[in-house]
Amino acid sequence: MVPAQRLAGMRESFIREMTRLAITHQAINLSQGFPDFDPPREVIDAAHRALDSGLNQYHVTWGMPPLRQAIAAKMKRWYNLDFDPDQHITVTCGVTEAISATLMAIVNPGDEVIIIEPFHEGYLPAVIFAGGTPRFVALEPPVYALEPDKLRAAFNPRTRAIILNTPHSPTRRVFTLEELHAVADLCQEFDAIAITDEIYEHIIYNGNPHIPLATLPGMAERTVTISGFGKTFAATGWRLGYACALDPLSTALRTVHDFTTICAPVPLQAACVTALNLPDAYYEQLKCDYVARRAKMMAILEEAHLTAQPPEGAYYVLAGFDAWNFDGDDYAFARMLPQKYGVAVVPGSCFYATPGMGKDAIRFAFAKKLETLEAAGERLRTRIGNG
Ligand SMILES: Cc1ncc(COP(=O)(O)O)c(C=O)c1O
Repeated sequence: MVPAQRLAGMRESFIREMTRLAITHQAINLSQGFPDFDPPREVIDAAHRALDSGLNQYHVTWGMPPLRQAIAAKMKRWYNLDFDPDQHITVTCGVTEAISATLMAIVNPGDEVIIIEPFHEGYLPAVIFAGGTPRFVALEPPVYALEPDKLRAAFNPRTRAIILNTPHSPTRRVFTLEELHAVADLCQEFDAIAITDEIYEHIIYNGNPHIPLATLPGMAERTVTISGFGKTFAATGWRLGYACALDPLSTALRTVHDFTTICAPVPLQAACVTALNLPDAYYEQLKCDYVARRAKMMAILEEAHLTAQPPEGAYYVLAGFDAWNFDGDDYAFARMLPQKYGVAVVPGSCFYATPGMGKDAIRFAFAKKLETLEAAGERLRTRIGNG
């Protein structure tokens, strides 16, 4: 059987391959971006209650009404964005589905979709599955700034959409208001839609607020604001995300969602209402915990002679391994590390489509218990000590 042409050149996700490698070598898995700790107790209890109270069948396609209402209240309270829960909010199977459904809802053959490199590896297949043509704008290390000239050069009359992720994985960036304005201005000039991935909205270190692109003048009606529960509530396996958009975008993406997944996991949707009702103290504690994890990660990298800048947001670090004088590229390095040091990471270049970019870096995910990070540091240290 010959697979469909749209799969040409695609292979298994490198990140998930690295997780398997971690299992094979019993390595500490700092590759895939999932926490090794549980969601808050009261959220787990709410999931148990939902399972026990008959919430085990299909529910409203767009998401359970109480959850959509809680999401609308959150968007109003945090960002002063107005979404009607009955029309503008769709609960999806993760951010991944929300992005994919949006692209399938808006992209026609020949349309271009701008992807900012490095990028979460799901974006490119999502654009291709939707029949779009990807166009890349690279963030150059070590600053990873969104350069206005490069951005402008990517926009043209065929541009249908741009995918913007802030706080950004895998770089450390939280885009500035100026950078966001550059995106907003170009979207309006070229009549393009912004698809934002705000999954790390609550993991920001420098005290600055998260700024959704939809809050910028003229952007509410041309932005699909996407976020999820996986990272904020340490529940990546629950597969719950949401898309907020005004019409006609909302109706279009709902049509795709309806016939792709019918609805997101119902008992877990009920539990996410509890998650959204957690007090502000939850978010403050979340930040404190990530500040401590980031500090631990940076200290480990420094000690291991891996060069990196502290992240502004999200929970990844791209680290250079120049000082190791390793004879091989990032893939070889990332395959060697779990085998010889018992620590799994992701090769930097798997976040780029442009050949050659990201070759001198590996990505560490630090959404881990401090003792897990400490153990990873110990492994790197022991082996280095042994030469
Ligand atoms: C930037 C970014 N977007 C999306 C996802 C996937 O989100 P979800 O698990 O909600 O599909 C990830 C996961 O690591 C991510 O880093």
